[in-house]
Amino acid sequence: AELHVREFVIQPKPVKRLCRTHESITVNGQFPGPTLEVRNGDSLAITVINKARYNISIHWHGIRQLRNPWADGPEYITQCPIRPGQSYTYRFTIEDQEGTLWWHAHSRWLRATVYGALIIYPRLGSPYPFHMPKRDIPILLGEWWDRNPMDVLRQAQFTGAAANVSDAYTINGQPGDLYRCSRSETVRFPIFPGETVQLRVINAGLNQELFFSVANHQLTVVETDSAYTKPFTTSVIMIGPGQTTNVLLTANQRPGRYYMAAHAYNSANAPFDNTTTTAILEYVNAPTRRGRGRGQIAPVFPVLPGFNDTATATAFTNRLRYWKRAPVPLQIDENLFFTVGLGLINCSNPNSPRCQGPNGTRFAASINNQSFVLPRRNSIMQAYYQGMPGIFTTDFPPVPPVQFDYTGNVSRGLWQPVKGTKAYKLKYKANVQIVLQDTSIVTPENHPMHLHGYQFYVVGSGFGNFNPRTDPARFNLFDPPERNTIGTPPGGWVAVRFVADNPGAWFMHCHIDSHLGWGLAMVFLVENGRGQLQSVQAPPLDLPRC
Ligand code: C2O
Repeated sequence: AELHVREFVIQPKPVKRLCRTHESITVNGQFPGPTLEVRNGDSLAITVINKARYNISIHWHGIRQLRNPWADGPEYITQCPIRPGQSYTYRFTIEDQEGTLWWHAHSRWLRATVYGALIIYPRLGSPYPFHMPKRDIPILLGEWWDRNPMDVLRQAQFTGAAANVSDAYTINGQPGDLYRCSRSETVRFPIFPGETVQLRVINAGLNQELFFSVANHQLTVVETDSAYTKPFTTSVIMIGPGQTTNVLLTANQRPGRYYMAAHAYNSANAPFDNTTTTAILEYVNAPTRRGRGRGQIAPVFPVLPGFNDTATATAFTNRLRYWKRAPVPLQIDENLFFTVGLGLINCSNPNSPRCQGPNGTRFAASINNQSFVLPRRNSIMQAYYQGMPGIFTTDFPPVPPVQFDYTGNVSRGLWQPVKGTKAYKLKYKANVQIVLQDTSIVTPENHPMHLHGYQFYVVGSGFGNFNPRTDPARFNLFDPPERNTIGTPPGGWVAVRFVADNPGAWFMHCHIDSHLGWGLAMVFLVENGRGQLQSVQAPPLDLPRC
Protein backbone atom coordinates (compact mmCIF):
# COMPACT_ATOMS: atom_id res chain seq x y z
CA ALA A 1 0.00 0.00 0.00
CA GLU A 2 1.10 3.51 -0.75
CA LEU A 3 0.83 6.84 1.05
CA HIS A 4 -0.31 9.71 -1.18
CA VAL A 5 0.79 13.09 0.14
CA ARG A 6 -0.89 16.02 -1.61
CA GLU A 7 -1.51 19.70 -1.16
CA PHE A 8 -4.86 21.28 -2.00
CA VAL A 9 -4.46 25.04 -2.10
CA ILE A 10 -7.88 26.67 -2.03
CA GLN A 11 -7.49 29.83 -4.08
CA PRO A 12 -9.54 32.19 -6.21
CA LYS A 13 -8.82 32.13 -9.92
CA PRO A 14 -10.52 33.83 -12.88
CA VAL A 15 -12.48 31.26 -14.89
CA LYS A 16 -14.15 32.20 -18.19
CA ARG A 17 -17.39 30.51 -19.22
CA LEU A 18 -20.45 31.71 -21.20
CA CYS A 19 -18.52 34.78 -22.47
CA ARG A 20 -17.77 36.11 -18.99
CA THR A 21 -15.03 35.73 -16.42
CA HIS A 22 -15.73 35.08 -12.75
CA GLU A 23 -13.32 34.83 -9.88
CA SER A 24 -13.92 31.20 -8.90
CA ILE A 25 -12.72 29.28 -5.88
CA THR A 26 -10.44 26.48 -7.12
CA VAL A 27 -8.07 23.83 -5.85
CA ASN A 28 -4.50 24.53 -7.01
CA GLY A 29 -5.95 26.86 -9.65
CA GLN A 30 -7.69 23.96 -11.39
CA PHE A 31 -11.36 23.78 -12.31
CA PRO A 32 -12.60 21.06 -11.97
CA GLY A 33 -10.08 20.14 -9.29
CA PRO A 34 -7.35 17.48 -9.47
CA THR A 35 -8.24 13.81 -9.89
CA LEU A 36 -6.96 11.57 -7.10
CA GLU A 37 -5.95 8.07 -8.23
CA VAL A 38 -5.26 5.55 -5.49
CA ARG A 39 -5.57 1.85 -4.74
CA ASN A 40 -7.65 -0.03 -2.23
CA GLY A 41 -5.54 -0.15 0.97
CA ASP A 42 -3.65 3.08 0.25
CA SER A 43 -3.51 6.02 2.65
CA LEU A 44 -3.91 9.69 1.85
CA ALA A 45 -2.60 12.79 3.61
CA ILE A 46 -4.09 15.83 1.93
CA THR A 47 -3.20 19.20 3.35
CA VAL A 48 -5.86 21.76 2.56
CA ILE A 49 -4.42 25.27 2.65
CA ASN A 50 -7.12 27.93 2.62
CA LYS A 51 -5.99 30.97 0.63
CA ALA A 52 -9.53 32.08 -0.19
CA ARG A 53 -11.65 34.52 1.77
CA TYR A 54 -14.29 31.94 2.68
CA ASN A 55 -14.29 29.23 5.33
CA ILE A 56 -14.01 25.82 3.72
CA SER A 57 -13.85 22.08 4.42
CA ILE A 58 -13.48 19.14 2.03
CA HIS A 59 -15.56 15.95 2.05
CA TRP A 60 -14.34 12.68 0.50
CA HIS A 61 -17.75 11.62 -0.73
CA GLY A 62 -18.35 7.90 -0.19
CA ILE A 63 -15.13 7.10 1.69
CA ARG A 64 -16.17 5.16 4.79
CA GLN A 65 -13.64 6.81 7.13
CA LEU A 66 -13.89 3.88 9.54
CA ARG A 67 -13.62 5.14 13.17
CA ASN A 68 -12.15 8.30 11.68
CA PRO A 69 -14.98 10.86 11.34
CA TRP A 70 -12.35 13.61 11.77
CA ALA A 71 -11.41 13.21 8.11
CA ASP A 72 -14.98 13.21 6.77
CA GLY A 73 -15.24 16.95 6.23
CA PRO A 74 -18.78 18.41 6.52
CA GLU A 75 -18.44 21.73 8.34
CA TYR A 76 -19.92 21.89 11.84
CA ILE A 77 -20.74 18.17 11.69
CA THR A 78 -17.33 16.49 12.00
CA GLN A 79 -15.06 19.53 12.12
CA CYS A 80 -15.07 23.29 12.36
CA PRO A 81 -14.33 24.88 8.98
CA ILE A 82 -10.82 25.74 7.88
CA ARG A 83 -10.62 29.52 8.21
CA PRO A 84 -8.96 31.76 5.62
CA GLY A 85 -5.20 31.54 6.13
CA GLN A 86 -5.38 28.22 7.97
CA SER A 87 -4.81 24.63 6.95
CA TYR A 88 -5.80 21.10 7.93
CA THR A 89 -4.47 17.72 6.83
CA TYR A 90 -7.06 15.06 6.04
CA ARG A 91 -5.47 11.69 6.86
CA PHE A 92 -7.35 8.54 5.94
CA THR A 93 -6.98 5.03 4.61
CA ILE A 94 -9.06 3.30 1.94
CA GLU A 95 -10.43 0.20 3.67
CA ASP A 96 -12.07 -2.34 1.39
CA GLN A 97 -13.44 0.04 -1.18
CA GLU A 98 -12.80 0.33 -4.90
CA GLY A 99 -14.38 2.21 -7.75
CA THR A 100 -15.41 5.78 -8.50
CA LEU A 101 -15.95 8.32 -5.77
CA TRP A 102 -15.30 12.03 -5.66
CA TRP A 103 -14.40 14.85 -3.32
CA HIS A 104 -16.04 18.24 -2.88
CA ALA A 105 -16.20 21.28 -0.63
CA HIS A 106 -18.71 20.75 2.19
CA SER A 107 -19.20 24.36 3.12
CA ARG A 108 -22.22 26.27 1.86
CA TRP A 109 -22.22 26.38 -1.98
CA LEU A 110 -18.49 26.20 -2.53
CA ARG A 111 -18.79 22.77 -4.07
CA ALA A 112 -20.12 24.53 -7.20
CA THR A 113 -16.49 24.88 -8.29
CA VAL A 114 -14.53 22.92 -5.67
CA TYR A 115 -14.80 19.26 -6.69
CA GLY A 116 -12.87 16.48 -8.38
CA ALA A 117 -12.79 12.74 -9.03
CA LEU A 118 -11.44 10.18 -6.55
CA ILE A 119 -10.65 6.93 -8.29
CA ILE A 120 -9.83 3.80 -6.31
CA TYR A 121 -8.27 0.94 -8.25
CA PRO A 122 -8.32 -2.58 -6.81
CA ARG A 123 -5.26 -3.79 -4.90
CA LEU A 124 -2.41 -4.79 -7.22
CA GLY A 125 -3.24 -8.14 -8.79
CA SER A 126 -6.84 -8.14 -7.58
CA PRO A 127 -9.23 -8.61 -10.53
CA TYR A 128 -12.34 -6.70 -11.62
CA PRO A 129 -15.57 -8.73 -11.83
CA PHE A 130 -15.85 -7.69 -15.49
CA HIS A 131 -13.41 -7.25 -18.36
CA MET A 132 -11.81 -3.91 -17.51
CA PRO A 133 -10.86 -1.82 -20.54
CA LYS A 134 -7.42 -0.26 -20.72
CA ARG A 135 -8.78 3.26 -20.84
CA ASP A 136 -10.74 5.01 -18.17
CA ILE A 137 -12.37 8.43 -18.67
CA PRO A 138 -13.74 10.50 -15.75
CA ILE A 139 -16.88 12.43 -16.75
CA LEU A 140 -17.72 15.09 -14.18
CA LEU A 141 -21.17 16.57 -14.67
CA GLY A 142 -21.54 19.97 -13.04
CA GLU A 143 -23.47 23.22 -12.97
CA TRP A 144 -22.18 26.68 -13.78
CA TRP A 145 -23.57 30.01 -12.60
CA ASP A 146 -22.98 33.16 -14.57
CA ARG A 147 -22.50 34.81 -11.17
CA ASN A 148 -20.64 33.99 -8.01
CA PRO A 149 -22.54 30.92 -6.67
CA MET A 150 -22.09 32.27 -3.14
CA ASP A 151 -24.11 35.34 -4.16
CA VAL A 152 -26.82 33.05 -5.53
CA LEU A 153 -26.91 31.29 -2.18
CA ARG A 154 -26.91 34.55 -0.25
CA GLN A 155 -29.86 35.78 -2.32
CA ALA A 156 -31.74 32.54 -1.65
CA GLN A 157 -30.99 32.56 2.06
CA PHE A 158 -31.80 36.21 2.51
CA THR A 159 -35.03 36.29 0.54
CA GLY A 160 -36.26 32.82 1.49
CA ALA A 161 -37.13 32.25 -2.16
CA ALA A 162 -35.98 29.41 -4.40
CA ALA A 163 -32.36 29.73 -5.49
CA ASN A 164 -31.76 30.76 -9.09
CA VAL A 165 -31.14 27.79 -11.32
CA SER A 166 -27.70 27.50 -12.84
CA ASP A 167 -26.92 28.97 -16.25
CA ALA A 168 -25.31 25.88 -17.73
CA TYR A 169 -24.65 22.23 -17.09
CA THR A 170 -21.08 21.19 -17.71
CA ILE A 171 -19.00 18.15 -18.64
CA ASN A 172 -15.54 18.29 -17.09
CA GLY A 173 -16.11 21.99 -16.43
CA GLN A 174 -17.22 22.88 -20.00
CA PRO A 175 -20.79 23.71 -21.09
CA GLY A 176 -20.27 22.46 -24.65
CA ASP A 177 -21.48 23.35 -28.14
CA LEU A 178 -25.02 24.45 -27.29
CA TYR A 179 -24.04 27.35 -25.03
CA ARG A 180 -22.78 30.78 -25.99
CA CYS A 181 -19.00 31.34 -26.27
CA SER A 182 -18.33 27.68 -25.42
CA ARG A 183 -17.82 25.90 -28.74
CA SER A 184 -14.06 26.19 -28.97
CA GLU A 185 -13.66 24.71 -25.48
CA THR A 186 -16.01 21.73 -25.83
CA VAL A 187 -14.37 18.64 -24.35
CA ARG A 188 -13.41 16.02 -26.95
CA PHE A 189 -12.66 12.38 -26.28
CA PRO A 190 -10.77 10.63 -29.06
CA ILE A 191 -11.54 6.92 -29.39
CA PHE A 192 -10.24 4.18 -31.69
CA PRO A 193 -12.76 2.23 -33.76
CA GLY A 194 -13.47 -1.02 -31.92
CA GLU A 195 -12.02 0.23 -28.63
CA THR A 196 -13.89 -0.20 -25.33
CA VAL A 197 -13.48 2.46 -22.63
CA GLN A 198 -14.88 2.88 -19.14
CA LEU A 199 -16.66 6.17 -18.42
CA ARG A 200 -16.69 7.11 -14.75
CA VAL A 201 -19.72 9.40 -14.62
CA ILE A 202 -20.00 11.62 -11.54
CA ASN A 203 -22.88 14.01 -10.89
CA ALA A 204 -21.16 16.90 -9.13
CA GLY A 205 -24.06 19.24 -9.93
CA LEU A 206 -25.49 21.24 -7.06
CA ASN A 207 -29.19 20.87 -7.53
CA GLN A 208 -30.06 18.71 -10.49
CA GLU A 209 -30.63 15.06 -11.31
CA LEU A 210 -29.44 14.43 -14.85
CA PHE A 211 -30.03 12.09 -17.75
CA PHE A 212 -26.81 11.15 -19.58
CA SER A 213 -26.50 9.48 -22.94
CA VAL A 214 -24.07 9.03 -25.87
CA ALA A 215 -25.47 9.22 -29.41
CA ASN A 216 -25.87 5.79 -31.11
CA HIS A 217 -23.85 4.00 -28.40
CA GLN A 218 -25.04 1.60 -25.73
CA LEU A 219 -23.74 1.93 -22.18
CA THR A 220 -23.05 -1.12 -20.00
CA VAL A 221 -23.45 -0.24 -16.32
CA VAL A 222 -20.86 -2.01 -14.13
CA GLU A 223 -20.65 0.05 -10.93
CA THR A 224 -22.51 2.66 -8.88
CA ASP A 225 -21.14 4.58 -5.88
CA SER A 226 -18.03 2.37 -5.63
CA ALA A 227 -19.97 -0.92 -5.62
CA TYR A 228 -20.03 -3.30 -8.59
CA THR A 229 -23.33 -4.14 -10.23
CA LYS A 230 -24.56 -6.97 -12.41
CA PRO A 231 -23.73 -5.54 -15.84
CA PHE A 232 -26.65 -4.40 -17.97
CA THR A 233 -26.95 -2.38 -21.12
CA THR A 234 -28.91 0.83 -21.55
CA SER A 235 -28.99 3.85 -23.85
CA VAL A 236 -29.45 6.35 -21.01
CA ILE A 237 -28.57 6.63 -17.33
CA MET A 238 -30.16 8.82 -14.64
CA ILE A 239 -27.75 10.13 -12.07
CA GLY A 240 -28.55 12.23 -9.02
CA PRO A 241 -26.25 14.78 -7.37
CA GLY A 242 -23.64 12.89 -5.35
CA GLN A 243 -23.96 9.64 -7.28
CA THR A 244 -21.41 7.96 -9.53
CA THR A 245 -22.06 5.43 -12.30
CA ASN A 246 -19.43 3.56 -14.27
CA VAL A 247 -20.34 2.42 -17.77
CA LEU A 248 -18.47 0.63 -20.53
CA LEU A 249 -18.75 1.98 -24.05
CA THR A 250 -17.54 0.26 -27.21
CA ALA A 251 -16.78 2.28 -30.33
CA ASN A 252 -18.76 -0.01 -32.62
CA GLN A 253 -20.53 2.61 -34.73
CA ARG A 254 -19.65 4.16 -38.07
CA PRO A 255 -16.40 6.14 -37.54
CA GLY A 256 -17.59 9.64 -36.90
CA ARG A 257 -18.40 12.16 -34.22
CA TYR A 258 -21.03 11.62 -31.54
CA TYR A 259 -22.26 13.85 -28.77
CA MET A 260 -22.36 12.70 -25.19
CA ALA A 261 -24.95 14.86 -23.50
CA ALA A 262 -26.70 15.47 -20.19
CA HIS A 263 -29.77 17.44 -19.26
CA ALA A 264 -32.10 17.80 -16.31
CA TYR A 265 -34.35 15.14 -14.94
CA ASN A 266 -36.71 16.39 -12.31
CA SER A 267 -40.35 15.83 -11.69
CA ALA A 268 -41.21 19.41 -10.79
CA ASN A 269 -43.95 20.66 -13.04
CA ALA A 270 -42.01 23.39 -14.77
CA PRO A 271 -39.13 22.73 -17.16
CA PHE A 272 -37.22 25.51 -15.46
CA ASP A 273 -33.99 24.67 -17.20
CA ASN A 274 -34.01 22.38 -20.20
CA THR A 275 -30.63 23.17 -21.65
CA THR A 276 -28.13 20.47 -22.46
CA THR A 277 -24.41 20.08 -21.92
CA THR A 278 -22.35 18.24 -24.52
CA ALA A 279 -18.92 16.75 -25.11
CA ILE A 280 -17.78 14.97 -28.27
CA LEU A 281 -16.76 11.36 -28.73
CA GLU A 282 -14.47 11.49 -31.77
CA TYR A 283 -13.42 8.39 -33.66
CA VAL A 284 -9.78 8.63 -34.58
CA ASN A 285 -9.54 9.15 -38.38
CA ALA A 286 -13.25 9.94 -38.70
CA PRO A 287 -13.97 11.11 -42.25
CA THR A 288 -14.17 14.86 -42.85
CA ARG A 289 -16.28 16.66 -45.39
CA ARG A 290 -14.72 17.04 -48.83
CA GLY A 291 -14.65 19.96 -51.21
CA ARG A 292 -16.52 23.10 -50.34
CA GLY A 293 -17.27 23.39 -46.63
CA ARG A 294 -14.42 21.02 -45.87
CA GLY A 295 -14.00 20.23 -42.23
CA GLN A 296 -15.44 18.18 -39.48
CA ILE A 297 -18.87 16.63 -39.80
CA ALA A 298 -21.40 17.81 -37.22
CA PRO A 299 -21.69 15.27 -34.38
CA VAL A 300 -24.79 13.09 -34.07
CA PHE A 301 -27.08 14.11 -31.19
CA PRO A 302 -28.45 11.52 -28.71
CA VAL A 303 -32.11 11.10 -27.85
CA LEU A 304 -32.52 12.19 -24.22
CA PRO A 305 -35.69 11.50 -22.21
CA GLY A 306 -37.94 14.44 -21.39
CA PHE A 307 -37.19 16.44 -18.24
CA ASN A 308 -40.22 14.91 -16.48
CA ASP A 309 -39.76 11.34 -17.71
CA THR A 310 -40.01 9.65 -14.31
CA ALA A 311 -40.83 6.32 -15.97
CA THR A 312 -37.43 6.16 -17.68
CA ALA A 313 -35.60 7.30 -14.53
CA THR A 314 -37.38 4.67 -12.43
CA ALA A 315 -36.90 1.88 -14.96
CA PHE A 316 -33.18 2.64 -14.93
CA THR A 317 -32.74 2.60 -11.14
CA ASN A 318 -34.88 -0.51 -10.80
CA ARG A 319 -32.45 -2.45 -12.97
CA LEU A 320 -29.52 -1.97 -10.59
CA ARG A 321 -28.40 -5.13 -8.76
CA TYR A 322 -25.39 -5.86 -6.56
CA TRP A 323 -22.88 -7.91 -8.54
CA LYS A 324 -23.16 -10.95 -6.25
CA ARG A 325 -25.16 -12.02 -3.22
CA ALA A 326 -25.13 -9.10 -0.78
CA PRO A 327 -24.70 -9.45 3.02
CA VAL A 328 -27.94 -7.56 3.74
CA PRO A 329 -28.93 -7.38 7.43
CA LEU A 330 -32.04 -9.52 7.90
CA GLN A 331 -33.03 -8.93 11.55
CA ILE A 332 -33.77 -5.22 12.04
CA ASP A 333 -32.96 -3.51 15.37
CA GLU A 334 -33.81 0.05 14.35
CA ASN A 335 -36.83 0.47 12.11
CA LEU A 336 -36.88 4.13 11.08
CA PHE A 337 -39.42 5.95 8.96
CA PHE A 338 -38.22 9.34 7.72
CA THR A 339 -40.32 11.76 5.71
CA VAL A 340 -38.28 13.96 3.40
CA GLY A 341 -39.65 17.02 1.73
CA LEU A 342 -39.99 20.71 1.38
CA GLY A 343 -42.00 23.04 3.54
CA LEU A 344 -42.73 26.69 3.98
CA ILE A 345 -42.31 28.78 7.08
CA ASN A 346 -44.93 31.46 7.66
CA CYS A 347 -43.59 34.94 8.19
CA SER A 348 -45.08 37.37 10.68
CA ASN A 349 -44.58 40.07 8.06
CA PRO A 350 -45.20 38.49 4.65
CA ASN A 351 -44.12 41.67 2.87
CA SER A 352 -40.62 41.52 4.35
CA PRO A 353 -37.78 41.23 1.80
CA ARG A 354 -36.78 38.08 3.69
CA CYS A 355 -40.08 36.37 2.89
CA GLN A 356 -40.06 36.03 -0.89
CA GLY A 357 -41.26 32.41 -0.95
CA PRO A 358 -44.78 31.58 -2.23
CA ASN A 359 -47.49 33.70 -0.52
CA GLY A 360 -45.02 35.63 1.64
CA THR A 361 -43.34 32.58 3.19
CA ARG A 362 -39.78 31.30 3.39
CA PHE A 363 -38.72 27.95 1.96
CA ALA A 364 -37.69 25.25 4.39
CA ALA A 365 -37.11 21.50 4.13
CA SER A 366 -37.17 18.78 6.72
CA ILE A 367 -36.87 15.14 7.80
CA ASN A 368 -39.75 14.09 10.07
CA ASN A 369 -40.71 17.75 10.15
CA GLN A 370 -37.33 18.67 11.70
CA SER A 371 -35.50 21.32 9.71
CA PHE A 372 -31.80 20.94 10.47
CA VAL A 373 -29.74 23.91 11.61
CA LEU A 374 -25.94 23.67 11.70
CA PRO A 375 -24.43 24.45 15.09
CA ARG A 376 -21.89 27.26 14.87
CA ARG A 377 -20.07 27.11 18.19
CA ASN A 378 -18.54 23.71 17.57
CA SER A 379 -18.92 20.64 15.40
CA ILE A 380 -21.32 17.93 16.50
CA MET A 381 -18.51 15.35 16.46
CA GLN A 382 -16.22 17.45 18.65
CA ALA A 383 -19.04 18.23 21.08
CA TYR A 384 -19.99 14.54 21.22
CA TYR A 385 -16.39 13.39 21.72
CA GLN A 386 -15.74 15.90 24.49
CA GLY A 387 -19.17 15.56 26.09
CA MET A 388 -19.79 19.27 25.59
CA PRO A 389 -23.46 20.18 26.19
CA GLY A 390 -25.56 22.76 24.39
CA ILE A 391 -24.45 22.05 20.80
CA PHE A 392 -27.09 19.49 19.81
CA THR A 393 -29.78 17.26 21.30
CA THR A 394 -30.39 13.55 20.67
CA ASP A 395 -34.17 13.63 20.44
CA PHE A 396 -34.45 13.36 16.66
CA PRO A 397 -37.82 11.61 16.09
CA PRO A 398 -37.54 8.09 14.56
CA VAL A 399 -40.98 8.47 12.95
CA PRO A 400 -42.88 11.57 11.81
CA PRO A 401 -44.95 13.41 14.44
CA VAL A 402 -48.17 12.79 12.48
CA GLN A 403 -49.10 10.35 9.75
CA PHE A 404 -50.77 11.76 6.68
CA ASP A 405 -51.36 10.92 3.05
CA TYR A 406 -48.01 11.70 1.44
CA THR A 407 -49.41 11.68 -2.08
CA GLY A 408 -52.35 13.99 -1.74
CA ASN A 409 -53.18 17.51 -0.83
CA VAL A 410 -51.50 18.11 2.45
CA SER A 411 -53.11 20.37 4.99
CA ARG A 412 -51.30 23.65 5.40
CA GLY A 413 -50.62 22.86 9.08
CA LEU A 414 -48.12 20.18 8.00
CA TRP A 415 -46.18 22.53 5.78
CA GLN A 416 -44.33 24.25 8.63
CA PRO A 417 -41.27 22.37 9.87
CA VAL A 418 -39.62 23.00 13.23
CA LYS A 419 -36.00 24.13 13.33
CA GLY A 420 -33.40 22.42 15.47
CA THR A 421 -30.04 20.65 15.71
CA LYS A 422 -31.03 17.10 16.51
CA ALA A 423 -29.21 13.78 16.23
CA TYR A 424 -30.39 10.19 16.51
CA LYS A 425 -28.33 7.68 18.51
CA LEU A 426 -27.59 4.22 17.16
CA LYS A 427 -26.04 1.36 19.12
CA TYR A 428 -22.78 0.01 17.74
CA LYS A 429 -23.52 -2.73 15.16
CA ALA A 430 -27.29 -2.15 15.22
CA ASN A 431 -29.04 -3.38 12.07
CA VAL A 432 -30.79 -0.32 10.70
CA GLN A 433 -33.59 0.06 8.19
CA ILE A 434 -34.70 3.49 7.02
CA VAL A 435 -37.74 4.03 4.85
CA LEU A 436 -37.47 7.44 3.23
CA GLN A 437 -40.83 8.82 2.16
CA ASP A 438 -41.24 11.91 -0.02
CA THR A 439 -43.94 14.12 1.51
CA SER A 440 -44.89 15.77 -1.81
CA ILE A 441 -45.34 18.98 0.17
CA VAL A 442 -45.01 21.99 -2.18
CA THR A 443 -44.22 19.52 -4.99
CA PRO A 444 -43.28 15.83 -5.35
CA GLU A 445 -39.52 15.70 -5.83
CA ASN A 446 -36.72 13.22 -6.19
CA HIS A 447 -34.54 13.74 -3.12
CA PRO A 448 -31.10 12.14 -3.54
CA MET A 449 -30.32 11.21 0.07
CA HIS A 450 -26.67 10.74 1.05
CA LEU A 451 -25.41 9.05 4.20
CA HIS A 452 -21.85 9.81 5.32
CA GLY A 453 -19.60 7.08 6.74
CA TYR A 454 -21.64 4.23 5.26
CA GLN A 455 -22.70 2.32 2.21
CA PHE A 456 -26.26 0.98 2.39
CA TYR A 457 -28.31 -1.59 0.49
CA VAL A 458 -31.35 -0.28 -1.36
CA VAL A 459 -33.83 -3.07 -0.64
CA GLY A 460 -37.01 -1.59 -2.08
CA SER A 461 -38.79 1.43 -3.49
CA GLY A 462 -42.16 2.41 -4.85
CA PHE A 463 -44.60 5.20 -5.55
CA GLY A 464 -47.29 6.44 -3.19
CA ASN A 465 -47.37 5.81 0.54
CA PHE A 466 -45.11 3.11 1.97
CA ASN A 467 -47.21 0.24 3.29
CA PRO A 468 -45.42 -1.44 6.24
CA ARG A 469 -47.67 -4.52 5.99
CA THR A 470 -47.30 -5.35 2.30
CA ASP A 471 -44.22 -3.61 0.89
CA PRO A 472 -41.48 -5.37 2.93
CA ALA A 473 -42.60 -8.72 1.50
CA ARG A 474 -41.32 -7.51 -1.86
CA PHE A 475 -37.92 -6.31 -0.65
CA ASN A 476 -34.87 -7.59 -2.49
CA LEU A 477 -32.72 -9.08 0.30
CA PHE A 478 -30.61 -11.08 -2.15
CA ASP A 479 -28.78 -8.68 -4.47
CA PRO A 480 -29.98 -5.11 -3.79
CA PRO A 481 -27.64 -2.39 -5.09
CA GLU A 482 -25.16 -0.91 -2.62
CA ARG A 483 -24.91 2.88 -2.64
CA ASN A 484 -24.07 5.95 -0.60
CA THR A 485 -26.70 8.19 -2.24
CA ILE A 486 -30.21 7.15 -3.28
CA GLY A 487 -33.03 9.08 -4.86
CA THR A 488 -36.32 9.04 -2.96
CA PRO A 489 -38.77 8.74 -5.87
CA PRO A 490 -41.02 11.79 -6.38
CA GLY A 491 -44.21 11.06 -4.44
CA GLY A 492 -42.78 7.71 -3.37
CA TRP A 493 -40.48 5.92 -0.95
CA VAL A 494 -37.23 3.99 -0.83
CA ALA A 495 -35.97 1.57 1.85
CA VAL A 496 -32.30 1.13 2.78
CA ARG A 497 -30.47 -1.13 5.23
CA PHE A 498 -27.05 -1.01 6.82
CA VAL A 499 -25.15 -2.18 9.89
CA ALA A 500 -24.12 0.70 12.20
CA ASP A 501 -20.53 -0.51 12.47
CA ASN A 502 -18.81 2.85 12.12
CA PRO A 503 -18.86 4.92 15.33
CA GLY A 504 -19.01 8.69 15.04
CA ALA A 505 -21.29 11.54 13.97
CA TRP A 506 -22.52 10.99 10.43
CA PHE A 507 -24.51 13.44 8.37
CA MET A 508 -27.46 12.27 6.31
CA HIS A 509 -28.91 14.82 3.92
CA CYS A 510 -30.42 15.60 0.58
CA HIS A 511 -27.58 16.12 -1.91
CA ILE A 512 -29.54 18.89 -3.62
CA ASP A 513 -27.71 21.84 -2.09
CA SER A 514 -30.71 24.16 -1.98
CA HIS A 515 -32.64 21.52 0.01
CA LEU A 516 -29.65 20.96 2.29
CA GLY A 517 -29.46 24.69 2.95
CA TRP A 518 -33.17 24.69 3.81
CA GLY A 519 -32.61 21.95 6.42
CA LEU A 520 -33.21 18.58 4.71
CA ALA A 521 -30.64 16.87 6.93
CA MET A 522 -30.07 15.03 10.21
CA VAL A 523 -27.18 13.40 12.07
CA PHE A 524 -26.68 9.83 13.26
CA LEU A 525 -24.54 9.41 16.35
CA VAL A 526 -23.21 5.86 16.25
CA GLU A 527 -21.92 4.84 19.66
CA ASN A 528 -18.57 3.19 20.27
CA GLY A 529 -18.37 -0.54 20.65
CA ARG A 530 -16.31 -2.22 23.37
CA GLY A 531 -12.59 -1.65 23.10
CA GLN A 532 -10.33 0.55 21.06
CA LEU A 533 -10.83 -1.14 17.73
CA GLN A 534 -14.57 -0.52 17.95
CA SER A 535 -14.21 3.13 18.97
CA VAL A 536 -13.60 6.49 17.36
CA GLN A 537 -9.90 7.35 17.08
CA ALA A 538 -8.44 10.34 18.90
CA PRO A 539 -8.85 13.59 16.95
CA PRO A 540 -5.81 14.88 15.03
CA LEU A 541 -3.92 17.74 16.67
CA ASP A 542 -4.47 20.14 13.79
CA LEU A 543 -8.28 19.70 13.77
CA PRO A 544 -9.66 23.23 13.13
CA ARG A 545 -11.26 25.09 16.03
CA CYS A 546 -14.41 27.17 15.81
CU1 C2O B 1 -21.35 14.66 -1.14
CU2 C2O B 1 -22.58 15.58 2.66
O1 C2O B 1 -21.95 15.20 0.72
